[in-house]
Amino acid sequence: MQTLKDSFSRAHDYLRISLTDKCNLNCIYCNPADSKFKKLHRNEILTYDELLRLINIFTGKLGVTKIRFTGGEPLVRKDVINFFESVNLLKQQYGFEIGLTTNGTLLEDKLYDLKKFGLDKLNISLDSLKPERFKYITGKDNLDSVISSIKKASALGFEPLKINVVVMRFVNDDEIIDFVNLVKDTKMNVRFIEFMPFGNNQWNQNGFISYDEIKNIIEKEYSLTEITSHKNLVAKDYNIQGHTGKVSFISSISNHFCETCNRLRIDAQGKMKLCLFSAGENELSFKELLNDKNYSDDDICGFIENSLQLKKKIHPGIDELLKLEENNMLSIGG
Ligand code: GTP
Ligand code: 5AD
Repeated sequence: MQTLKDSFSRAHDYLRISLTDKCNLNCIYCNPADSKFKKLHRNEILTYDELLRLINIFTGKLGVTKIRFTGGEPLVRKDVINFFESVNLLKQQYGFEIGLTTNGTLLEDKLYDLKKFGLDKLNISLDSLKPERFKYITGKDNLDSVISSIKKASALGFEPLKINVVVMRFVNDDEIIDFVNLVKDTKMNVRFIEFMPFGNNQWNQNGFISYDEIKNIIEKEYSLTEITSHKNLVAKDYNIQGHTGKVSFISSISNHFCETCNRLRIDAQGKMKLCLFSAGENELSFKELLNDKNYSDDDICGFIENSLQLKKKIHPGIDELLKLEENNMLSIGG
């Protein structure tokens, strides 16, 4: 089996696939209701057959060991559970891990099938535990459905079960300790994420809270011990005194983790993104490649390897990121 290495010898064995740019929530930091981004037409996204061919190539030929499905909201895509059943057949053949990042609103009745089909690395986004504030952030009223999904996933033994919280000053920064307490007697992992700038998401320095500041707030109440054994993770993980659950920090802005980046992405329109923050240059279009009957799977492996050599050493700084107006988190999937 090959390993996908870039020109800085970073091995890429983690693929994130955005299944759709559609989402049933309108989070202020991701998909504001007045967003200027046009939704993709059904014909513009990769079909399930095309995705299965790519997964077969990445995991069967190129050494990818983990796939995470994202969106938009991946569970809004039609027949997604049948697709996961097919992905599971490939998982049984090649032995890779599968994860899903979801907003949790459409999850509860699908948990049993997800477990059955091997999607056991579940990350659920939740930015407030207060109903009114949840509605302000997401535009919708369904905090209860997310909480029930989390409880059921925990009871069904999903592990790791990670709760992603994007922290924004004056919006939800007063709930940091509430989120830490949420995981007290559980095996869950609450992850505080630095608010990142994306096209049209109204990011500004005043609303930003760094990992250091969030950690200091927690350490006024609890002692944290760093868990150092993990590599290639975007998150820094900590044990919390007196808790069985864990807390983590994702410090994309204050302390990037590009040196150990092992990630590749396929966005909702089938473009390969070398970095969450790349500006759209030199992207492979899988829609075009897969539609060209002249290309075999080995040809496609060659295109992927060549494209990976263009990956930059680090992502642009904050001033550059603010200029990347066309970058759309909904289509890239985080
Ligand atoms: P695990 O498989 O549990 O490690 O998940 P993950 O942290 O890779 O994925 P998730 O979809 O839960 O994303 C959590 C946060 O990390 C989101 O805000 C993502 O945008 C961010 N994130 C994921 N990958 C990258 C990356 O390569 N670079 C940066 N800067 N942020 C990332
Ligand atoms: N900054 C930080 N995290 C973000 N996410 C979406 N937009 C942003 C942003 N601007 C997170 C979601 C989800 C994950 C895929 O990315 O909350 O947990």
